[in-house]
Amino acid sequence: MNKKVTKIGVLTSGGDSPGMNAAIRAVVRTGLYHGMEVFGINRGYSGMVENDIQPMTSRSVANIIQRGGTILKTARSKEFMTPQGRRQAYDNLQKHGINGLVIIGGDGSFRGAQVFSNEFDIPCIGIPGTIDKDIAGTDFTIGFDTAVNTAIEAIDKIRDTADAHDRLFIVEVMGRDAGYIALHSGIATGAEHILIPETKTNIEEIIQGLSEKEKRQKLVNLIVVAEGDEFGGGNEVGKIVKERLPNADVRVCILGHIQRGGSPTCLDRLIASRMGYHAVESLIQGRHNVMVGIVNNRMHYLPLDNAVKAKEKFNKDWLTIVKILAS
Ligand code: F6P
Repeated sequence: MNKKVTKIGVLTSGGDSPGMNAAIRAVVRTGLYHGMEVFGINRGYSGMVENDIQPMTSRSVANIIQRGGTILKTARSKEFMTPQGRRQAYDNLQKHGINGLVIIGGDGSFRGAQVFSNEFDIPCIGIPGTIDKDIAGTDFTIGFDTAVNTAIEAIDKIRDTADAHDRLFIVEVMGRDAGYIALHSGIATGAEHILIPETKTNIEEIIQGLSEKEKRQKLVNLIVVAEGDEFGGGNEVGKIVKERLPNADVRVCILGHIQRGGSPTCLDRLIASRMGYHAVESLIQGRHNVMVGIVNNRMHYLPLDNAVKAKEKFNKDWLTIVKILAS
């Protein structure tokens, strides 16, 4: 496994996240700085299977640090999940002489990298890029900070109109089966309740609190719901509340994919640049099959296997904070 890495491929896989371009830029320029050849693999693992691969120069990554999305495009590849697809992908890498890979993506992408590197002799380094922040071994994932800031900007606006009408707003945010976007954006916007998949919600308690407010003929409230919560997201929570409080003026707003776009924040550009740089340094140092994370502001290398299996530990204290601050 410890052959000298001279030609690296970089790809983005799974859901895009703001800051992925900054990471690609860092990987390409660090690789070139060390005299490596760097190849961009388009549309994630699909591009590997279909040989959609091109050499990258310093100019290929000019003027992208501030852009959301990913210039390499992304996909969730079905072919790569099959042994034949992975063999095809390996053969294509061989054609270009690529002997090291940097994968920017979430846990699904790391799972693919793990299987691939077990089957073929190619070191893989993962960079955590997902708005969901659902990966262990790193305090940050690229895109989370931007997504949360997008969410709070939208929720602040919703609060204005909620206030004007004395309305109850239920806002659904993304996160798949993780509640970090909901928790962070909910606390930062002063939400009264935050519903997340990591904990059971006592909906009766919430209804009870809302009905007491309804009696006082005022119901300005903000409930932030993670899309993966136990009730099935904002619309479902809205249905329950409307059934139980038929006189309440309730609106549901699903923020959706706007959370994935936009120019990355300073934090996302910074961590993407650091992680991209250290991913290439890792390949040079002979590391393989690790994810480059940041813990307590230091680089942290976690075996891809663990990054895939473990989820980030959830801090339950935060919910106590929500309760006390919203009272
Ligand atoms: O994983 C990122 C994410 O945006 C999740 O928060 C969301 O559940 C999912 O991707 C949406 O996926 P798609 O873009 O395929 O609808």
